[in-house]
Amino acid sequence: MIDDLWYKNAVIYSLNVGTFMDSNGDGVGDFEGLSRRLDYLSGLGVTCLWLQPFQPSPNRDNGYDVSDYYGVDPRFGTLGDFVDFAHQAKQRGLKIIVDLVVNHTSDQHPWFKAARSDKKSKYRDWYVWSKKRPRDYKKGMIFPGVQHETWSYDKVAREWYFHRFYQFQPDLNTQNPAVFTEIQRIMGFWLELGVSGFRLDAVPFIIESRHPGKHIRHYAYLTEMRDFLQWHEGDAIILGEANVLPGENLEFFGDEGDRMHMMFNFFVNQHAFYAMASGDIRSLANALKRTEALPVYAQWASFLRNHDELDLGRLTREQRNLVYSKFGPKPNMQLYGRGIRRRLAPMLGNRPQLELAYSLMFSLPGTPVLRYGDEIGMGDNLRLRERSSVRTPMQWSEEPQGGFSTARKTILPVIDKGVWAYDRINVEAQRRDPNSMLNWTERMVRLRKECPELGWGKYTILQTHTPSVLAIRYDWRGNSVLTIHNFAEKPQNIAIDMGTPNSGRLSNLIVGEHSEAQADGKHHIVIEGYGYRWYRVGGLSHILKREKY
Ligand code: NOJ
Repeated sequence: MIDDLWYKNAVIYSLNVGTFMDSNGDGVGDFEGLSRRLDYLSGLGVTCLWLQPFQPSPNRDNGYDVSDYYGVDPRFGTLGDFVDFAHQAKQRGLKIIVDLVVNHTSDQHPWFKAARSDKKSKYRDWYVWSKKRPRDYKKGMIFPGVQHETWSYDKVAREWYFHRFYQFQPDLNTQNPAVFTEIQRIMGFWLELGVSGFRLDAVPFIIESRHPGKHIRHYAYLTEMRDFLQWHEGDAIILGEANVLPGENLEFFGDEGDRMHMMFNFFVNQHAFYAMASGDIRSLANALKRTEALPVYAQWASFLRNHDELDLGRLTREQRNLVYSKFGPKPNMQLYGRGIRRRLAPMLGNRPQLELAYSLMFSLPGTPVLRYGDEIGMGDNLRLRERSSVRTPMQWSEEPQGGFSTARKTILPVIDKGVWAYDRINVEAQRRDPNSMLNWTERMVRLRKECPELGWGKYTILQTHTPSVLAIRYDWRGNSVLTIHNFAEKPQNIAIDMGTPNSGRLSNLIVGEHSEAQADGKHHIVIEGYGYRWYRVGGLSHILKREKY
């Protein structure tokens, strides 16, 4: 029964175990702390937790430099703590997906150590080597300004090795069948421990063959990964990180929807920020159209901010400069020549625009992904290097260290100064305030889940004849929802033609102001600056029918 595609109507919450909740007072968040916060998360209404890497790691890239795929970093607890956490999440109906970082390992991984020190080791061919310095050794860096090359000389191996990311992250030779078998073993291991899928890191690079100068993508790799996954666990999913152009999306999803189930919609994300910066929705509407047609099993993941910089690399230079000027004007707010290293609340700076942004994210076609701390409007710390600025510990209360830990020193400093400090922004205070960001977010999560049309349905962008107002209608199984967002600071008068019979009444799902079609058959709506509306088309007492395909 196709209704069982749980990810189509999920709300995903991403977190880092190390910065979420410290239970033993050593300054580092851990699985036991996370387990104790599961009631908070299920109360918020999210349905799936995405855990960022928590495996043993020298931790030079926030855990994305794994040195053992089959364990838990001792700083976060034990494998036993993980299993206990997985069990408790299951009790609350929460699904778990975990990062699968197999484009590269840490240079401290025993495989790399063996590979570099012994040419005859079976692990030698698990990595990508070149006897000579490749001509393109200074091309294709992901972290320009910090990373200086993609091929580095290894004194022990006396050869050059390829690393798409930092120098300490040698790329695995994924084209080697033994590496693929090992990737499957890793997937099988975590599936057996109860996870419902993977956030697959750096997908375009995993499937790329790495011969110097030649970069060909082997999409069939994704089909094989999917086959393995689904044989193992029928309802497990892969959520891919692939910041690619719209024309390439379908290759990653597969024409039949037989590769990745979900992908982050980076293209729409960047145009959403442009719309917020410019007050003009036209390029966002265009981005939505260009990422529209998907096979039935495929789904977009919508997001605003994540644990990395806000990547604006897909915008034109003019568009990017406008976003910079509005949301990240100072050089220390920008990163890698393409992005902004701030959290959303300080970027937007005011509650109405913040609500507009999240209402938009919840209503974009697809499945929303929240980042921990977003629900309370947490800020950033620009004194920390690179992307650590947006990775500070969760602010639970006004107690020392924001209630995150009883230690004097924490994994990253808790924000304790200025308007974003924990004594001003924290869960406890917001829990008591009905108008807080936390309670607003909780209501939006509920609303989103009650509108499965958004996750499942077909959508149409309706004409508003106003460049600052985006109206999207979603239809699924005889029910329809309409959302409207005004990106301008000023109120707008709009007239909307729903284009179908039985749409004389629009029932407002947030406040009691419904709309009746006027004599001209249109809905005339005045929408305030940064305003948003969620309407059900027709009456409120709808029932979504189940259907067999
Ligand atoms: C993408 C992750 O989101 C990022 O944080 C990491 O640095 C790179 N992949 C390398 O794993």
